[in-house]
Amino acid sequence: MKYIELIEINTNLVPLQGLGVIINTMQTIDASKVPYKTLYNGAKIPVIGLGTFGSDNYNAETIAQAVKTAIKMGYRHIDCASVYGNEKEIGAALKEVFADGIVKREELWITSKVWNDKHKEVVASCKQSLADLQLDYLDLYLVHWPFPNYHAPKCDVTARQPNSVPYIHENYMKTWAQMESLVESGLVKNIGTSNVTIPKMKLILRDCKIKPVLNEMEIHPHFQQPELYQFMKDNGVEVIGYSPIGSPGRPERDKTPEDTVDMEDPIIVAIAERLNVHPAVVCLKWAVQRGQITIPFSVKTDKMFNNLKGITEGPLTEEEMEQISKIDKGCRLIKGQVFLWEMAKGWEDLWDLDGEITK
Ligand SMILES: NC(=O)c1ccc[n+]([C@@H]2O[C@H](COP(=O)([O-])OP(=O)(O)OC[C@H]3O[C@@H](n4cnc5c(N)ncnc54)[C@H](OP(=O)(O)O)[C@@H]3O)[C@@H](O)[C@H]2O)c1
Repeated sequence: MKYIELIEINTNLVPLQGLGVIINTMQTIDASKVPYKTLYNGAKIPVIGLGTFGSDNYNAETIAQAVKTAIKMGYRHIDCASVYGNEKEIGAALKEVFADGIVKREELWITSKVWNDKHKEVVASCKQSLADLQLDYLDLYLVHWPFPNYHAPKCDVTARQPNSVPYIHENYMKTWAQMESLVESGLVKNIGTSNVTIPKMKLILRDCKIKPVLNEMEIHPHFQQPELYQFMKDNGVEVIGYSPIGSPGRPERDKTPEDTVDMEDPIIVAIAERLNVHPAVVCLKWAVQRGQITIPFSVKTDKMFNNLKGITEGPLTEEEMEQISKIDKGCRLIKGQVFLWEMAKGWEDLWDLDGEITK
């Protein structure tokens, strides 16, 4: 069977089938209409990127295909990580879109992250990601978690590795120095943190040579983290909000009976009805309008399109923004239990809830 792919600019064509030919058409968004944030060093990052954590639901090939579709659709920012186990496949997808002339390397923003078990081998880990992604440089490299605590893939929520430790600032700064060396050698344009708290960030800002350009952290309407968000902004550190829709597909081990569902919140649903969009799109519009960069995950063409379109179309009203600011439930979904050390009391110890670093 022949397969013909047509890309139409902003039309509503649907897939056609017949006579042994599939014509697959896809709606696209003009990438120049997607807003960006300017970081303290002048770098410009698109405010929406495609997440690539397939959780237990999607394999590497499916996600790589989604990356290709996303770029053809108008996405210019892809959030990768070595631990997602799909950088090789994404690298092949990137090679194809470059070869097809769909984008040039410099038109894309590609993020990767050093995993917890490589805090002492940051340069080697970065080079591996570059080799897998088939790139000469990364736009952004993040320290994925501030703990060097490894856990086996798909492990149980109660699993604790005997060599897991709490945050040790001296060690984190040794990792950060390797991150800084990546900027100096040109392998990475920007470096940032992920999953750090105010106490940790205060120490990092005090001791770093190159300040993090941004922090990637969990943010969605039911988990807005207003103090941490404001602290970052006040210090010139931009914010990427992960799990922006409330991560409905997160691993089972990350689900608890107390978790709430952003997309079912009556305020979110009412705004979605007014705008005739999916509640997921309201979460993304809120994220971008509030001021964070958002990285929703999907491998479904229609959802990817609705998400991209949503953030390029009309804003929420001031009243709606105010209403959403009041539905914060402090509901952290990615609690990080598997990173706990033996003496830790509970997942709260990872997040310095009393304002102090937990040892
Ligand atoms: N730095 C970190 O530690 C960290 C931690 C977690 C995540 N992340 C990054 O953040 C990304 C996003 O977070 P996430 O994957 O946890 O969750 P998310 O983006 O909040 O949610 C993704 C889920 O929402 C659904 N969805 C997406 N768009 C939709 C739409 N328009 N309508 C209805 N449903 C929609 C998807 O459905 P389908 O499955 O049907 O496509 C998918 O299951 C990750 O992929 C990863 O890149 C980083």
